[in-house]
Amino acid sequence: MSADAQKRAVAEAALRYVSRGEILGVGTGSTVNHFIRALADLREDIPGAVSSSEASSALLEEAGIPVVSLNEVNGIAVYVDGADEANNHLQLIKGGGGALTREKIIAAASRQFVCIADESKLVGALGGFPLPVEVIPMARSYVARELIKLGGRPVYRQGVITDNGNVILDVHELTINEPIRLEQQINNIAGVVCNGLFAMRPADTLLLGTAEGVRTIQR
Ligand code: A5P
Repeated sequence: MSADAQKRAVAEAALRYVSRGEILGVGTGSTVNHFIRALADLREDIPGAVSSSEASSALLEEAGIPVVSLNEVNGIAVYVDGADEANNHLQLIKGGGGALTREKIIAAASRQFVCIADESKLVGALGGFPLPVEVIPMARSYVARELIKLGGRPVYRQGVITDNGNVILDVHELTINEPIRLEQQINNIAGVVCNGLFAMRPADTLLLGTAEGVRTIQR
């Protein structure tokens, strides 16, 4: 089964986690795009969705699902999103698509976080995928020097401005033995808005596409 077929399979499997009549959280990426298209069939049962990116908002509207602001709702029942890497504790690296800050806010505000991914995303240790860090533009060089002190090799994502008006450093060659500690350390650098480690708030469920079908991993 191709990676794309695995993504479609987990996207369809995620439909049964959608709580009818409640606000849904929707992430960003090619796996989530399959999910949004599949969601169109449930549009009558979904009062609205909080979206992590302009790209997902446009697709949701095409699917006939109203996009609502997080400030208009009293929490989110279920959040469905992809990942760039996941470990067995369902700690993740996210932000390959640049939407990490909104994704982290929505994950924090959601009762249940369902991650959908093809099998290439499951790793023994996080860090093979460069860790995205969203940074206030004036702090870019300072933050880069601090990230080098943590053992990483930050690379400026040229030409990318996030939906929040900031820039992204992708940190290569990090050894991530203690994801929660590293997430906190990077958050503590002045000028960092958010980093793509989702360890303090990991996923609750991982639906993993495999050649044998969809595997469900619970935390
Ligand atoms: C978006 O910023 C990321 O966190 C995505 O969740 C991630 O890049 C997954 O993308 P794919 O579904 O395209 O693999």
